[in-house]
Amino acid sequence: DAEDLASFHEHLNKSTRVLALLGAGLSASSGLPTFRGAGGLWRTHDSVSLATPEAFNTDSSLVWQFYSYRRHMALQVQPNPAHYALAKLARKMPGFQALSQNVDGLSQRADHPPGQLQLLHGTLFEVRCMDRGRCGHSETNFVLQAKQQSKDLDISDVKVPLASVKTHDLPVCPKCKQYLLRPGVVWFGESLPEQVLDNVDKFMDAGGVDMIMVIGTSAKVYPAAGYIEDARAKGARVCVVNMDENDRPAGGWKKGDWFFKGDAATLVPRLLEPVIGRVEP
Ligand code: APR
Ligand code: ZN
Repeated sequence: DAEDLASFHEHLNKSTRVLALLGAGLSASSGLPTFRGAGGLWRTHDSVSLATPEAFNTDSSLVWQFYSYRRHMALQVQPNPAHYALAKLARKMPGFQALSQNVDGLSQRADHPPGQLQLLHGTLFEVRCMDRGRCGHSETNFVLQAKQQSKDLDISDVKVPLASVKTHDLPVCPKCKQYLLRPGVVWFGESLPEQVLDNVDKFMDAGGVDMIMVIGTSAKVYPAAGYIEDARAKGARVCVVNMDENDRPAGGWKKGDWFFKGDAATLVPRLLEPVIGRVEP
């Protein structure tokens, strides 16, 4: 309500070191599915057979199809006003860092400064060699060629037993020529990219945190969700933007926290207005 908005704006105007933990809800009104809400990807698809290293070993083709499908979907939609507002905040506030769980590339397409966007779970728009340690080859904007996609695999009905193509149809690393290329995203059970972990640690070590905005995320997946408590420990107040008033961050609710219920695409530009100015409606 107006009082909350005023107190939030007052705090924002005094803040110089701000974090934002971004989730699928940020991209929902761009037209991409979330994971756990209605129509969420983990409601219609089985994350264990699609988003784990074991899944890739079991059926690389299925996993490749799933990520190619998600990449294709991401390219069909546009960034929304919240992506642009956060990018503008980054340009106006050097002490702002976005910690994004999203792999959809929409923040990047909204010209979010890359130095202020930590891709906690990687991106659909990069592929890398299975052998991260020794080979480490990676490339961006790789497109799985049609010929490599198995004909009889209908991604929309992933539960159907699949006649997956043999792995020789799938892209092999052009550098070491030994391992398959894999989507450059973080799967369940995998650690976050070293460089990203370092960047966030550096930010946390550089001083206190005035605020962490928790935008469009159920904050259930760790270590990403752990950054909320880390920020609190550095003095941050928490501002949740979520469609669902029940989705509060783990670690409970503290006095002085804000909760703004609604669509991120509408709320985020309004919340950031004092710093980024009026954005065209
Ligand atoms: N505006 C704001 N919030 C929204 C909107 C919207 N338009 N639509 C949905 N939400 C909220 C939902 O209420 C929910 O709290 O966004 C959140 C989406 O939660 P999830 O579907 O769990 O997505 P996310 O939190 O990003 O998942 C985290 O889990 O599967 C892994 O790696 C994957 O990065 C993902 C991680
Ligand atoms: Zn390789």
